[in-house]
Formats: sequence, structure tokens, C-alpha cells
Amino acid sequence: MSYRWAFIIGLLLGPGMSAPLAIASDSAALSLVPVPQRMERPEGEFALHLDATLYTAPVFRHAPRSLRLLLSPATGFTFERVADSAAAAIRVLHDGELGPEAYVLRVGAGGVDITAAADAGVFYALQTLRQLLPTDVYSQTPVERQWAVPFVAIEDAPRFGWRGLHLDVGRHFMPVDFVKRYIDLLAAHKMNRFHWHLTEDQGWRIEIRQYPKLTEIGSVRAQTVQGFPGFSRKELGYDGTPHGGFYTQEEVREVVAYAAQRHVTVVPEIEFPGHAQAAIASYPELGNTGKQLKVKEEWGISKNTLKPSDETLQFYRNVLTEVMALFPSEYIHIGGDEAPKDQWEESPYAQQRIRELGLANENELQSWLIQQMDDFLSANGRRLVGWDEIMQGGLSSNATVMSWRGMAPGAKAARQGHDVIMAPTTYTYFDYYQGDDSKEPTALPFYLPLREVYSFEPIPAKLPPEFHRHILGGQGQLWTEMMKTPEHVEYMAYPRAVALSEVLWSSPAGRNYEEFLPRLDAHLQRLDRLQVNYRPPGDDELTLKGKIKQLLFKAALRVYLWWNGH
Ligand code: ACM
Repeated sequence: MSYRWAFIIGLLLGPGMSAPLAIASDSAALSLVPVPQRMERPEGEFALHLDATLYTAPVFRHAPRSLRLLLSPATGFTFERVADSAAAAIRVLHDGELGPEAYVLRVGAGGVDITAAADAGVFYALQTLRQLLPTDVYSQTPVERQWAVPFVAIEDAPRFGWRGLHLDVGRHFMPVDFVKRYIDLLAAHKMNRFHWHLTEDQGWRIEIRQYPKLTEIGSVRAQTVQGFPGFSRKELGYDGTPHGGFYTQEEVREVVAYAAQRHVTVVPEIEFPGHAQAAIASYPELGNTGKQLKVKEEWGISKNTLKPSDETLQFYRNVLTEVMALFPSEYIHIGGDEAPKDQWEESPYAQQRIRELGLANENELQSWLIQQMDDFLSANGRRLVGWDEIMQGGLSSNATVMSWRGMAPGAKAARQGHDVIMAPTTYTYFDYYQGDDSKEPTALPFYLPLREVYSFEPIPAKLPPEFHRHILGGQGQLWTEMMKTPEHVEYMAYPRAVALSEVLWSSPAGRNYEEFLPRLDAHLQRLDRLQVNYRPPGDDELTLKGKIKQLLFKAALRVYLWWNGH
């Protein structure tokens, strides 16, 4: 469908703007990303000067801060507040009818008018205004120049409420400064969820005051396997170097506050009952065998799962109590993925527990454990979210599902009336190759080029419309086994995260990869200004050998996901 048709349909469906509108060529020329829902572009431009003042309706407590955050570093302007709206260069007005993240942005001879219902909408209007300004506005130091903004009238609102990026800091610890930069970048693309994957077999990364050994012991592994055994043939032994790091509660608070100022909610993940070997290494009584384990030094799935005891449950309730005090997020992620049942099958204790609880098998035991966490979080006014394996053995009552093993688990959960976040490997695993593996740094041996990300449709094709509201949105995954540095994370995340941001924000009707590419090209100049280490788009076709390898790997992945689903 062409933009124009999308636009006409949009006009029929939504509240219209007064003037006739045009979208395709104009938004391409301005290179707005993600592309707004509606836009018109009259002739002319408005210049912001050093004496540019700001008027905001009193309800917007954070608008001045947002404006200074986004526009002051490069312009050097302070945007003094004035009480008289007519005198201001930038006016922020209230319209309670708009959605919480929606905005209207008009730039004309009289200045810049932003209308929104809430601070988030103002923030996104300012992100758009930043894109309308010369690329120099992304400089973090003052630039002497003219700051002209083209005349525009934009009505915009996100398609989905959950627009996220995930970051695994368990496999490789990432410094606080980078975590903040990651949040800045996702906010620049109008994303609003940072899923912080804080605990893993290979490292526990968050200070828990009641259990200091989680970080004293669990945050450091003695060495790390090289390459990705099991997938690649690049098995080079171990590096012989300890790897560690964790975030103090003070630092966590700082990150959460930093994110909140950018209208990003930080969703913490505490893995349970699998991917918990670092916790078991810290407190062996949490394990099924009681044996002292190492913080895991290899990648892949650990068979060392948690012992399904009341003591383990209480331990995790205590951990989550500290986590809830740090993270205001309604959603708390408890993992739930890739928990092999081998140890429970062999453990007399686990078997007795299954009998005592009247459960049929190990899958139902997992489900029962997740239900305990669900009850606990719900009683504390929070909501549990977990990877789609939490559906094994029956989905707990209030759970939200993060669908990673394709779209089908999410579709199934939505039909059961559960909320879903789409995070399928096939479109959102940014740890996969972006081009032929002969030309790229080592990654997971699958292929997810930019075009494929752009083609992602979070609503499953066969999901009846009455369940669509359960698809809250989607997010990109950055698993860091192969990413040792922030630079490498950025290389894998961008520009794929740019494509994803448009999938999650913009109207699907107008989505067109060929039209996206020139906008992306201009947008990359903004990322250059921010010194983002993105992978240049293009040159991403597979060789014949690569195509054959992908067929084999995809078949292997299907078998693995199927097997893992049982
Ligand atoms: C996952 O990739 N194990 C959620």
C-alpha cells in the first residue's frame, strides 16, 4: 500500500488536521525516524535564537528539563521560561484528549507549538523537533550556527505502548555510563522500555543487600570460553582472565532516574528457575545438588537449575523485594526460559515436591514455581513478565509473555487473554549476523539483516482482532556472549534498532523498506554526530555458502526450539 493510501485511510479513521496533508516525499526529505503518523510541510522555516523563550502549560512539570536536555548542549540556548505564551518562541500546550505519548507539533512563522496530554508526548515532540533541526544539534558541545526549523504540522502517536530494547549484562558486564548512553539512544528513537537482563549463569550483576555473596562470588567468573562452542568451530580454549562487575543499588537508582527523565521505564530481569548458576555458585543451597558450583565459564544452557524448595522461593521473594524497591516498573521480568528439567527428574527432593503438590510432571513444577512468583509480585502491585517457556505446564494467572521462540507462543498466550510482548528470534535477535559471516565479527550463527527487521509485524497474521489489544508491542534483544564491549553492542544494535523503532511506532500501512533507506541514510548522520558505532547498512547479502549454512542452522534452531518446548 502506498503512503498516500495509508494517509487517506488514516484521515478517514483518525481525527483529521485542518489543512490538506502530504506525507511521503515530505517525511523523506526531513528524514524523520520513526516516521510520524501524519505530516504536512508548508513552505518556510523558523529560526531559533539565543533569546528563544519557552512557555509551558503548568501541567508539564518536566517540559523545560526535556527541552534543555535535548537542545541545549549543541545550541547553548537556555530557553528561559516566560509566563506569556504569545511572547514565547516555543509553546507547550495541553490537550487532555490526546494519548499519553501522542503529540502535535506545529512550526510556523509564530514559532514552535507543541500540544500534548502528558510529559511523554512533549518529550517525543522534542525528539522530533531535534530531528528537524540541523544534524549539529546532536553535538554534545556548543556549535556556532543558525538553528532553523522547517515549517511543519505533525500529528503523531505510537502504534504500540511497549517499544523496547534489551541488554544482557550477565554475559558481559557493561559500565553504567554505557547503560545510560544506551538509554539515551533508545529514547532518541522514541522507544520507552529498557529491559535490563541483570542475572545469568555467567554473572550476577545487581547488588542485593540481604545476600552479599550474590555479587561477592556471583559477579565474577574466573575465565571465559572463547568462541561459541556448539555452534561455531572457533573453539580456542579459555581466555584465562577473570571477568566481573556489578551495579550497586546506588548506581541502579541513578540509571532508573536517568531513564525516567527520558521517559524510559527500566524493566529488571532476575532469571528464575534457570540461568541461575551464578546465584547457586554464591549460595549452593539454592541448587538441586548442594554442590559448590563455579560461576559458569561457558555459553549455552546450564543444567544447574534452582532447587524447588520453600527456602529458594523465599530467597527469591527477598531478592525481588529489594528489586521492587529500586525499580518502579509495573513489570518485573523473572526469566523462566531454558530451564532444563534433568536435575528435577533426578532429584528425590524435586520428585517428592511434585508428588506433594499433586503435580503431573516437571513442567507443572516449573509452572507452579512461576505462579508463586506471580502471586508475590501481584500482591505487591506488580506484574510478572517472563519468556514464553513460562507457558509450559500452564501459564500463571496474571503473567505477561515475552514471545521469543517465534510468534506462535505469543499468539497462543494472547488467545488465552494474556498480554504479550513480541521478541521473536526471527526478527528481533540483534545478536545474529547482519551480513555474511565471512565479513562480520563473530556472532550467533543466524542471519538477521536490516531488511528482515524492518519487515517485522508484531501482530500475528492469524490472530483474531479481538485479541490484538493483548500485543503490547515488541523489543530487540542484545545477548552479549559475543559482545565484549559497548562499541560491539552498538554495532549489533544499530541500525537494526532504528528499523525496529519504526516498526513499533509508525503506521504499518505506510511501511516501505525502499522509502526507509534514504531516511535512514540521513538519520545515520545524526548517529555519526552521537558517535554511535553502527554497522553501515548494505553489503549484507549472503554468499552461496552462507545461504546453505543458514538453511542448516535454521533447521537446527527449529529442532532446538521444538525440543526445548517439550
Ligand atoms: C532466550 O533467548 N533464551 C530468551
